[in-house]
Amino acid sequence: MIYPIVAYGDPVLRKVAAELTHDNPPNLPQLIADMFDTMHHAEGIGLAAPQIGLSLRLFVVDGSGTDDEEIKDFKKVFINPVILEQTGEKWGFEEGCLSIPSIREEVMRQSQVRVRYYDENWQLHEETYDGMKARVIQHEYDHIQGILFIDHLNPLKKRLLQSKLAKISKGEVKHNYRMRFPLAKR
Ligand code: NI
Repeated sequence: MIYPIVAYGDPVLRKVAAELTHDNPPNLPQLIADMFDTMHHAEGIGLAAPQIGLSLRLFVVDGSGTDDEEIKDFKKVFINPVILEQTGEKWGFEEGCLSIPSIREEVMRQSQVRVRYYDENWQLHEETYDGMKARVIQHEYDHIQGILFIDHLNPLKKRLLQSKLAKISKGEVKHNYRMRFPLAKR
């Protein structure tokens, strides 16, 4: 099933998401499969549960649809992830987000993360990632903390985006995948 992606302005994107347990959500394998379908349909490389309206600490990543060698075989499920450490120099890259279509801005992030998480089989992992993989993890992890990439921009840049963001909330934006807009007129 392909879920509509929640657009900027929906309060679910601003909540600190709740941890998953072994029985919540009830059908985790199906949810994970649906999240991958939803993300692939929208041609994204990462999708966090709040983006489909579920305030849960879960995100999926898959770089196989890109031509970026670094993330070509980066396909994973992160359940209850914890970023243990962020290290390395900050570097800039133009990011986008399926919840904020049409906006791309350079975001500075540290180059390396150490993350502890459960995979789809509830196996615990502790791993270090760098470069693009680290960036994707940091972006998706932000989502389950209620943070969006635009929050990392300087105040001037953010102010310049305000009218565009207000339009996105109302559904006045081009998008080629299913979305749900918090302020759309019916
Ligand atoms: Ni995003």
